[in-house]
Amino acid sequence: MNFKITVLSGDGVGPEVMAEGLKVLAAVGSKYGHNFKLENELIGGVAIDRTGSALPAETLKSCKKADAVMLAAVGDPRFDDPKLPVHPEDGLLALRKGLGLFANLRPVKVFDELVNASTLKPEVLKGTDFIFVRELTGGVYFGKPKKEWMTPKGRKATDSMTYSEQEIERIVRVGFELARARKKRLVSADKANVLKSSRLWRQVAIEVSRDYPYVALTHALVDACAMQLIRPPTAFDVIVTENLFGDILSDEAAQLAGSMGMLPSASLAGIPVSGQPTFGLYEPIHGSAPTIAGRDIANPVATILSVAMMLRYSMGLETEALTIEHSVDKILKQGYRTDDIMASGNTRVGTRKMGDLIAAEV
Ligand code: IPM
Ligand code: MG
Repeated sequence: MNFKITVLSGDGVGPEVMAEGLKVLAAVGSKYGHNFKLENELIGGVAIDRTGSALPAETLKSCKKADAVMLAAVGDPRFDDPKLPVHPEDGLLALRKGLGLFANLRPVKVFDELVNASTLKPEVLKGTDFIFVRELTGGVYFGKPKKEWMTPKGRKATDSMTYSEQEIERIVRVGFELARARKKRLVSADKANVLKSSRLWRQVAIEVSRDYPYVALTHALVDACAMQLIRPPTAFDVIVTENLFGDILSDEAAQLAGSMGMLPSASLAGIPVSGQPTFGLYEPIHGSAPTIAGRDIANPVATILSVAMMLRYSMGLETEALTIEHSVDKILKQGYRTDDIMASGNTRVGTRKMGDLIAAEV
């Protein structure tokens, strides 16, 4: 089959890990006879340098014509000053909004071989396999008013956590659709003891649950959920939550997997109903890691696993996705490790070598 992919390598380690993701994608293409047509575009700090914008119009246009988008990382310390008019992260937020990517899927799977890479006890971690469904285009990230202003007593600033019932319904449905194909347990994390938007969220979740009588829905307050995530994480199957809560919980959960370098993500523009392909953007959950950029030490596994998610959710290629996931598993079993997950007795490899090994295994 033929597919068009827009490739956004971005900043820092982005180009390095992207190269390995594309290497593995090419291996899948030649094994299964698919043709992936790639278009490279700018985003983030590199885009600001060359065009003045963190998301040039051409990039958005290319993404809209593609079957899927692959992104590596945005972020550059040269733009850290909050007073600057434009930041690399603006490009990512504008892209999510511009492409309508409301559903962010972040699977957290602890590989048996890596149970010792985390700061948590192996017996707590073993068997951890759940997925976050984070709302990505609403809530406090985008709600209006959002501003800073001057008052007689000094400066004030506000952000607004706003949700419509339609926004809540579609994201909760994504949670149910994933849960029905997994262990049929959905946790909705909110702050309904305090926030109006969470009370609406909870009501809508209960209404949607009537369409999924075979999925067990439970509600958790987000603070308690943060605690339960580490005692023990194996209790979870699917967790659906709003934008900022999902941002925070998913970083916490990354520590379960030992390294952010292991975790992929998908951001979808539609509800994935029984394997039907839907447009999406695929990226590792880690950032641009500027301190290790250009040194061939970044872990490319998260990007490679993001390629697998793209094949699964935007192309309907489940077998091909599983081939990548099994290949990653196999290479880890053979003891190959990048710096971030290195332990005694393992074989240390660089970014490129890790990509070579996984591509060859495919
Ligand atoms: C993430 C990141 C982004 C977010 C930043 C870079 C804007 O932390 O994808 O989790 O907050 O959504
Ligand atoms: Mg985050």
